[in-house]
Amino acid sequence: MSAQRLRRRRRVLALLVVVQVALVISASPVLAASPLPACRYADVTTKHPWYATWRATLLDTIYRVPSSFAPADRVSTANAGLSDSFTVRSLIIQDLRAMSFAARDVGAGFKVQSAYRSYQTQQAVYQGWIDQLGEAEARKISARPGHSEHQLGTTLDLRSQDSNRPPWDYPDWATTKAGAWLKANAWKYGFVMSYPKGREATTCYAYEPWHYRYFGRKRAAKIHQSGLTTRQWLWISGGY
Ligand code: DAL
Ligand code: ZN
Repeated sequence: MSAQRLRRRRRVLALLVVVQVALVISASPVLAASPLPACRYADVTTKHPWYATWRATLLDTIYRVPSSFAPADRVSTANAGLSDSFTVRSLIIQDLRAMSFAARDVGAGFKVQSAYRSYQTQQAVYQGWIDQLGEAEARKISARPGHSEHQLGTTLDLRSQDSNRPPWDYPDWATTKAGAWLKANAWKYGFVMSYPKGREATTCYAYEPWHYRYFGRKRAAKIHQSGLTTRQWLWISGGY
């Protein structure tokens, strides 16, 4: 083979490798995205701070929504056959109701511990934990105002229907009838546990088996199948 043909062949091969790598990267959101940031505390406005982009809004110890973020389409959780003391965005009602009835049908009924929380309510909640535990510990179990998924109106803390104890009073609420049922089945109704056990390094919060955020059935199934935490999923899919 002539030297010229050899050079041309090498160039074609190099081009093929570049195309191949580009195809792999574009097909894989994990490779295409920048790495998930380590846990730290900051006040950066999240990239999707709008009511319409509720599926994509990443809130963590770094990203937040403005204090004025307060979805107007909130309705009582009584519309899902649950307590009338809490509100959530109307778009989650149908699936919340279906999940609640399905859980009751198998003796795993749950109640609402907490649902939508305004910026001001979260401020009071967070301050309450600081008063009890000091700021370093409070930060691990409570979001600073603006950073809580409860402000989205699509997130609930759930508790056992047959008990008056809050879920955090159990050694591991996910081992109760309601907690275990939700852990196994909530994704089928569009809800995903935001802070699972053993994943504290990626969620940046302590394990919370009672805290579920709604993503809709299709996306929740994808998140469930991916094995990623919601923070990882949102980071990768959100273009951060
Ligand atoms: N407990 C969770 C992190 C919150 O305050 O939203
Ligand atoms: Zn919660």
